[in-house]
Amino acid sequence: MHDYELLVVGSANADLVIGVDRRPGAGETVLGSDLVVHPGGKGANQAVAAARLGARTALLARVGDDDYGQLLLDSQRSAGVDTVGVLVGGAPTGVALITVDPSGDNSIVVSQGANARLTPGDVRASLRLMAAARVVSVQLEIPLESVAEVVRTAAAGFGGRPGPRVVLNPSPVAPLPNDVLAACDPLVVNEHEARFLLSDDQVGSSDDPEEWADALLSRGPRSVVVTLGGEGALAADGDRMVLVPSPAVTAVDTTGAGDAFTGALAWRLGVGDDLVTAVRFAVRVGAAAVTRAGAQASFPSAEEVAAL
Ligand code: RIB
Repeated sequence: MHDYELLVVGSANADLVIGVDRRPGAGETVLGSDLVVHPGGKGANQAVAAARLGARTALLARVGDDDYGQLLLDSQRSAGVDTVGVLVGGAPTGVALITVDPSGDNSIVVSQGANARLTPGDVRASLRLMAAARVVSVQLEIPLESVAEVVRTAAAGFGGRPGPRVVLNPSPVAPLPNDVLAACDPLVVNEHEARFLLSDDQVGSSDDPEEWADALLSRGPRSVVVTLGGEGALAADGDRMVLVPSPAVTAVDTTGAGDAFTGALAWRLGVGDDLVTAVRFAVRVGAAAVTRAGAQASFPSAEEVAAL
């Protein structure tokens, strides 16, 4: 038996959030709401989302030795995430500057801070966590070489025992090495990320998510999930392609909804769901997460998902 259904290796940020009537253009200043500070970061968000749903979860991340780092540790612990893998120090805690408009859409600028100091050596030093996890989930707010180290470690396994299944959400999107792409099961992308990864292919300018999924599968991932916002998500594993619709909800703040989706998806895969079943659950989690403000603060419990 594994100690963790899900290990998340990724970022932890303090989210500095301002509501605006509309987001400013270049050279423009707009007035906004009072500042609110929330715990965030794509890795920390995924871990909290899964733990709040009941997952046995651990986080491997790096925060600064400062108040924001403590905020993040506190939020992980209160959600039930094992923080034994959260390293402290080396740089200030990562910060995300976020504006949210009345439709719930956001714009985000991230100062990576300590996230950029989560090194391949840190990953190697955490073999015990990797060996104890059914699924490992990664994103790209930490160095790509650390993500590649996670993938290599998972692929090598542990003394003849397979390593954890790899879930990757390449956000913020960047070109991916072939061995990283090939390990994804699934690669989880939104429209923007799919188009970026396919920008060297005519399919990147298509408007058909099924074409994106097919083209992405041909690059090596074992499976692909394309998230489609309020439309739901498309799950593709080479054998079948299934569009899973989202429940209709009123969006208040979309921040972190993709992380809630991916954390929930990775957890359900970790407890043995097939891809489509896991996506069906995850779209409900993502939908619930847009109905409240903030990232981690908006993530639902299992009871709230069931009631949706
Ligand atoms: O995906 C949402 C997250 O992106 C925010 O919490 C912010 O920290 C950035 O990492």
